[in-house]
Amino acid sequence: MIPRFDDVEFEKLKKLLHIYEWGLRTLKTKMHIVDEDLKNFQHRDAIDYIASRIKTPQSIAGKLHNLGVPLTTEAASENLFDIAGMRILCPFLDDIHFLVSIIRNMPDINILSEKDYITNPKPSGYRSYHIILEVPVFFNGKAERVKVEVQIRTEAMNFWSTLEHKVRYKYKGDIPKHLSDELAEIAGKIDELDNRMHLIHEIISLINE
Ligand code: GTP
Ligand code: MG
Repeated sequence: MIPRFDDVEFEKLKKLLHIYEWGLRTLKTKMHIVDEDLKNFQHRDAIDYIASRIKTPQSIAGKLHNLGVPLTTEAASENLFDIAGMRILCPFLDDIHFLVSIIRNMPDINILSEKDYITNPKPSGYRSYHIILEVPVFFNGKAERVKVEVQIRTEAMNFWSTLEHKVRYKYKGDIPKHLSDELAEIAGKIDELDNRMHLIHEIISLINE
């Protein structure tokens, strides 16, 4: 049986998803301003691309079902941290921690947790920096806080994780060993590539100075 919200909860959820959308838009604007500021005044291209998405009601219902909690909007906003998701792609490795420190310094952003899968990659080989944060949103005359999961990674890491995600989806999470071994090995090569390209970029930056 496919888990579904009942009609009353579904209407409440639609409202809640609007609020998440506003939170995501607020954060997106902030990050675009950071990008323009860096480009114009520090001659630094730390952001290649910003993508964002709101989780679908079906996917929210599925995740709540797997967590064994009731299919309600309250349970969704309490238990799920990735209803609003943002992905920031950077050209080079050092851009990631640079952006993390900028986000940490935003006075109205409240960071709930950080996971550094770059220093500590997942067994799959997955690398990325994850931040769960809260963005303030004003509506109906009051301030609300919206949770957003931000994933920051290099273009190379994204190339790998997009493919790995496709493979994972195809095999419903149960990837055959020869493929998971191959993906883990490629992840290592991607890491080497990221480090070598970062080094070349550093050298070029030094020469330019
Ligand atoms: P989820 O229940 O999937 O949200 O995981 P979590 O709450 O334990 O958080 P985690 O930081 O492990 O993963 C959050 C998100 O990171 C996932 O939804 C994926 O988008 C991404 N991710 C984590 N691990 C992997 C991986 O091994 N491969 C790929 N392609 N993506 C991953
Ligand atoms: Mg997730």
